[in-house]
Order: sequence, then structure tokens, then C-alpha cells
Amino acid sequence: MDRIPILNLKPQLAALRAEIQAAMDEVLDATAFINGPAVRAFEASAAQYLGVKHAVGLNSGTDALVIGLRALGIGPGDEVITSPFSFFATAESISTVGATPVFVDIDGESFNIDVSLIEAAITERTKAILPVHLFGRPAEMEALLSLANKHNLVVLEDCAQSIGARYDGDGDGARHQTGSLGDAGAFSFFPTKNLGAYGDGGLLVTDRDDVAQTARKLSNHGSIERYRNEILGYNSRLDSLQAAVLNVKLPHLDAWNEGRRAVAGRYNELLGDIPGVVTPQITPGHVFHQYTVRLAGVDPAGGRDAVVERMAAAGVSAMVYYPLPQDELPVYAGRFPACPVSHRLGAEVLSLPIWPELDGETQSRVASALAAAL
Ligand SMILES: Cc1ncc(COP(=O)(O)O)c(C=O)c1O
Repeated sequence: MDRIPILNLKPQLAALRAEIQAAMDEVLDATAFINGPAVRAFEASAAQYLGVKHAVGLNSGTDALVIGLRALGIGPGDEVITSPFSFFATAESISTVGATPVFVDIDGESFNIDVSLIEAAITERTKAILPVHLFGRPAEMEALLSLANKHNLVVLEDCAQSIGARYDGDGDGARHQTGSLGDAGAFSFFPTKNLGAYGDGGLLVTDRDDVAQTARKLSNHGSIERYRNEILGYNSRLDSLQAAVLNVKLPHLDAWNEGRRAVAGRYNELLGDIPGVVTPQITPGHVFHQYTVRLAGVDPAGGRDAVVERMAAAGVSAMVYYPLPQDELPVYAGRFPACPVSHRLGAEVLSLPIWPELDGETQSRVASALAAAL
């Protein structure tokens, strides 16, 4: 039997190959490789889709975080409150701009920052909150934004895993895209993301004219007008070939995210009765970049890793996002107070194969392999 990968991008490629090749050919024929029409078209349609005034194409999601922080005026001496339970780019961006990450522990059910713990972490140096919508589930933005408002803090959303996710803060049924809720939102088009390019890519979105203007300047060596460099910036632009791919893919994103939610629903049914497996809630607007369960009963010293190995031996890939919370990575080790929930989840989480076209039969094999491995 075929090995089941953690992600399979081939069905999507097969469905769109001709269209993507034509879009790439158009870029080649125009020889407009940097800041060409494909980039401008993608920025316009992404801004419209996300419901924001400005979208600035960048080189990666990491750059979107770095440039977003700088465009929001965050720098040396500032503290930025964030979640410990994320990919390292989140905290790395804060350190890269010279600010200090302040890790506030997560809520064990949602894997997102526990908003009830934020206020106690605010000091006179706190300038920003950087929530992560981890695994595609929107963070508790309503309470977070009201705290930010109260303490005069800016909010940069890390939407690398949440493109297309909607948040309904006041429960009135009107849902808003993640990235459109705070002062700015940072997106990644790394190939494995829900909207993936065929290389690196990123986007910063905002309703604020000043932030968009500074971000565009920073992305282009600190200049808007050619050879009039005003500040120290970066070379960070969305590549035209990547924009061409994204232009073809964006109209399909909502359907793909619906596919992911359906996969998550089937997993919840298949796994719901396995003792010790805690399945994720399927909250409104969640786009399941990852489908991640908690193995509540395993030995924290390696029990989960043994399950991963047994599943691999049975031909099923499972991954661990993330074994070490950011505050415990070698780069920061010993510098920050412990975050117990995030530490415990680092030993318990397990992400199963997920992609929009994943079929029920394959999911049953995954579920059986997990049950057997336990
Ligand atoms: C939560 C999170 N933030 C930031 C990033 C950085 O994005 P990129 O890889 O495009 O730089 C990623 C993904 O890689 C991510 O998962």
C-alpha cells in the first residue's frame, strides 16, 4: 500500500496545471519579472478578498512579519506580546527588529494565546500584541483587540496559517477575515500553506495608509521613488511568477478550505472514540491548515514520539507542530519564564495528514494506524 504523506499537493496541481502554466507563460512573454502586472493584480484581488484597503506583496511570511512590525513603529526597547506555541518566524521577527518577545501562555483547547493572561504581561514598554491564528483557527480577537485598545497597543496578526479563516467576534454572524481585524496582518504563501505559491511569497495587509506606505518603502530598499532611498529597508518583493500562480489559485481558496473542514469533520468522527485522543473543535471560520490532536494519556518523555514512529512504520506520516515552544528553543533557552500549557502540549500534539482532496478511505487508514500505534 502507498505511504500516506502529511500533505499531497499533486491533486491541486493536476486540476490547475494548464491554467498555471499559461499564467506563468504570460509573465515569461512579458518579461516582467519584478513588480509586473501579475503582482499588482494579485495585490488588488487579495485586498478585495480579505476586505482590506491595502495589500503589499513581499518575499515571505517572515518578511511580512518583520516589515509589518517595523511599519507599525516597533523597534529596540519595545516589548511585543505573542504566543510561545508557533513556528519560530513569529518570535524571530520580533527579535529581528530589535524588540523583545514576551511569551504569554496558550489556551490548551485552541492552541492560541490565552487572552485572559495578556493584561498581566503588559508593562510600560509593551507596544504591540502579535497573535497567531495557529493551525487556521482564529485567535480570540474581540477580547484581544479591546485590551489593545485599552492599553494603546498596536496589533499585528500572524495569518501565515489562517488565510481564508473568518472570525465572528460579537456572534452576529458577520464574519471577518483574519488579517483584517488588527492594525495589520501578515500572510505566507510557502508552498504548504492553504494558499501556497511554488516558492516563497508573503503579503502584508492593512487598512492604514501610513503602514502600507512604509511597508512598501521598506520592501524596496527604503524607497518609493527610484534612487531616492529614505530609510534602511530590504529587498523583499513578491515575485511575478509566484503572483501568477497565486492569481490562478486564489479563486479556489474558499472551496479548498471547505474541503479541509470536511476532512477535519470526518477525522473527528473516526477518532472521537479512541481513548486518550483529544480532537480539535470545528469552530466557525477555522480553516484547518493543520489537523492536530492531543494525545492526553502518553508519557510526556517520548510517548508521543513513539506513536509517530509506529505510525511511520505502518506507512502513515504524522508530524509534530511544535515539539519545542519558541521560548524553549536553543536561541532563547533560559531567557524567559516557563509557559506550562504550551510546554505540556509540545509533548502531546500530533498533526495528521490533511489536504482538501483527502478521501475518507485514506482517512480511515490514518485513524486505524493511530489507534494501533497507541
Ligand atoms: C505561524 C507562522 N508564522 C510565520 C511563518 C513564516 O512564513 P514564511 O515561511 O513564508 O517565511 C510561518 C510559516 O512558515 C508560520 O507557520
